[in-house]
Amino acid sequence: MILGVETSCDETAAALVTRGGEVLANVVSSQADLHARYGGVVPEVASRRHLELVVPVVREALAEANATLDDIETVAVTNGPGLIGALLVGLSAAKALAWARRLALVPVDHLHGHVASLYLEPEPVEPPFACLLASGGHTLLLDVRDHGGYRVLGTTLDDAAGEAFDKGARLLGLGYPGGAAIDRLAREGDAEAYTFPVARVPGLDFSFSGLKTALLYAVRDLPHGELERRRPDLAASYQRAIIRALVERVEAAASRLGAEQVAVVGGVAANSELRASLPAAALAPLPLCTDNAAMIASAARFVEAIPWPGYLAVDARASAA
Ligand code: KG4
Ligand code: ZN
Repeated sequence: MILGVETSCDETAAALVTRGGEVLANVVSSQADLHARYGGVVPEVASRRHLELVVPVVREALAEANATLDDIETVAVTNGPGLIGALLVGLSAAKALAWARRLALVPVDHLHGHVASLYLEPEPVEPPFACLLASGGHTLLLDVRDHGGYRVLGTTLDDAAGEAFDKGARLLGLGYPGGAAIDRLAREGDAEAYTFPVARVPGLDFSFSGLKTALLYAVRDLPHGELERRRPDLAASYQRAIIRALVERVEAAASRLGAEQVAVVGGVAANSELRASLPAAALAPLPLCTDNAAMIASAARFVEAIPWPGYLAVDARASAA
């Protein structure tokens, strides 16, 4: 089996996945509570927490699968993009483990990992498809032709979709990270109550920063004490604008590619309005939308492994490949 390790942001995760794509264990320890009081992820705090958690989380994954280190054949680890210090903790742990046991190592691109969340049992999705990857750090449209990678068709010019959710949640006083909170609150609100602009940039790119400013003004212009009453409407209208932009663009990408299949992955793929808006799309399973290591181990099945001991010089990288 493959041991996956993921520490690119504020989730410390380990998973055990078979060559065939069966998930035997998937452990995610979120640091969200730790960062909540700062209103966002503090990189150095994240690195230190990963250091404390990475070994216990791997141990827990082994226990969950009723396995030992002897059962592991390959170690897969995210080496970018992400927070550099956070990545280095997972990469160093994975290297040490693989090297000591003379195992092969697969450095995995985090974005490929999100796409590979679709390739796991029990309902694996088969390429080709047009893919929307929307998370806290990225908003990308991808042309996925095979299991081994992707081609970028469009990206965000400013904020990522998840970041727009998180910043909106903060303006509404919903805490961090706020995507799921907006999703919940929006169900009680009227999405037509406010008209928020969806920026139309040329091609297949996105822009969300204007939307965030529009919400800021709407909140600021409320009569004193009105925010409490209007919060569900604001959440619903704001969410509607983000989801419209995402749905419009992924459909445009699919028609440009002539793709018969559309897929959605990443943390924002957990959004209920997005899922309902794309009923025919292949959607990442809910527990695999936000960062996890099962998707990293999944991607590793389609990437050439580096045999022992050739991987000690493999480096982490903060930005996309
Ligand atoms: O994929 P992910 O865990 O991390 C990155 O790789 O960035 O995505 C986290 C993002 C956060 O911005 C969070 O607010 C958002 O996903 N998110 C949601 C929902 N659940 C998580 N956004 C909208 N609706 C949700 N239900
Ligand atoms: Zn991610």
